[in-house]
Amino acid sequence: MRANNILYDRHKAVLPNWAPVYYEEPISLVRAQGRRVWDQNDVEYLDMFGGILTTMTSYNDPHIVAAIQDQAAKMIHTSTLYLIESQIELAERIAEMSGIPNAKVFFVNSGSEANDAALMLATAYRRSNQVLAMRHSYHGRSFATVPVTGHSSWSPSSLSPFNVNYIHGSYRYRSPFGDLSDRDYVKACVDDLDNILQVATSGDVACLIAEPILGVGGFSHGPDGLFKDIKNRLDQEGILLISDEVQTGWGRTGDHFWGYQAHNIVPDIITFAKGVGNGLPLGGVIASADIMDCFKSLSISTFGGNPLVARGAMANLDVLIRDDLQGNAKARGGELKTGLQRLSEKYDYIGEVRGKGLALACEIVEDRKTKKPDQARTAKLLENAKSHGLLIGKGGFYGNVIRMAPPMSITKEEISEALDKLEKVFATV
Ligand SMILES: Cc1ncc(COP(=O)(O)O)c(C=O)c1O
Repeated sequence: MRANNILYDRHKAVLPNWAPVYYEEPISLVRAQGRRVWDQNDVEYLDMFGGILTTMTSYNDPHIVAAIQDQAAKMIHTSTLYLIESQIELAERIAEMSGIPNAKVFFVNSGSEANDAALMLATAYRRSNQVLAMRHSYHGRSFATVPVTGHSSWSPSSLSPFNVNYIHGSYRYRSPFGDLSDRDYVKACVDDLDNILQVATSGDVACLIAEPILGVGGFSHGPDGLFKDIKNRLDQEGILLISDEVQTGWGRTGDHFWGYQAHNIVPDIITFAKGVGNGLPLGGVIASADIMDCFKSLSISTFGGNPLVARGAMANLDVLIRDDLQGNAKARGGELKTGLQRLSEKYDYIGEVRGKGLALACEIVEDRKTKKPDQARTAKLLENAKSHGLLIGKGGFYGNVIRMAPPMSITKEEISEALDKLEKVFATV
């Protein structure tokens, strides 16, 4: 028996069944460099998923490693009871980057916690527990984020601290409005929002939480400008917009630094996590001071933005900006998308190629006419990609979307290599 199978047995014995691992024979990744990872049997893979979009710049960047090592040797943790200069500096930088005027930042450890904090702020500020969310969304695993996740496979509980209503907009491929022009689609979604506000709420809704591009939902999104029209309607009621940038932030979409910028708006609250720490556990909420300071009681996050993660995140952002990785995401993402579109001309089972920058997906169907989700073929694609030394991700409401979101430093040669491999992978299913 190979070492990975023994490890899998041990895994199954002590870790929960509901936290899935990829592949019939799961792999254990033990070392990495740049965009490449190696498993326990020293098999090499080109990583096109970056640990779910979390290795944002690259593995083992010397500048980031040096910052972490330096801080670890000095002091890992102090708690937020004391001033932390690196945390303050990181907050200053993120507040400045956010586009929110007079912004403040609260640091936590994950995307779920960031969205929890944002929902608590919005509901406290608006003194309402009514919340809107997008169909097909994913906002986390916690008790307050599952209720705003419009994706039943990720909803282990129906309990909720909120009264939640879901609106249309982010998933167009099977939307009842999907065949409309961009303009008519946006209008239909805003009419749907308007209708929900009238028939399903008492009017004083706290917020809408939305991903500019669905992450787990399969890199689907509405037309640019959708959230402008939605926000115009929300503003009429004083409803806050929370932009969940856990997957779309930091330039990954290529055209913009934040996903919300494609809509020519500034949200009231932004949440972030994943890529900012490049693997260090860091998330956060950004809001204007009047919203951020609205709590009447105290609240802390013990680990949130501790000296180790703050130093690591700053070094990560240094690399992101120094190497113009947003520009690279646009250029390399363009090449990857063109390659995927070429493949989709060949294979009728690729229902749609979509996404932006280095967040790209193919929805896998039996054929383009019926659009019937093909989960079996999707699983096979994932397995075959692994056999060809390529790690890709999966997602979508029906589990039939393959996703690619490599570290944003991926090179032109590596994109060609990925496409060469994908060519073979798609040919075998
Ligand atoms: C858009 C979005 N929000 C929130 C989360 C939750 O983040 P975490 O798993 O760090 O709690 C995720 C995780 O995939 C996500 O994709």
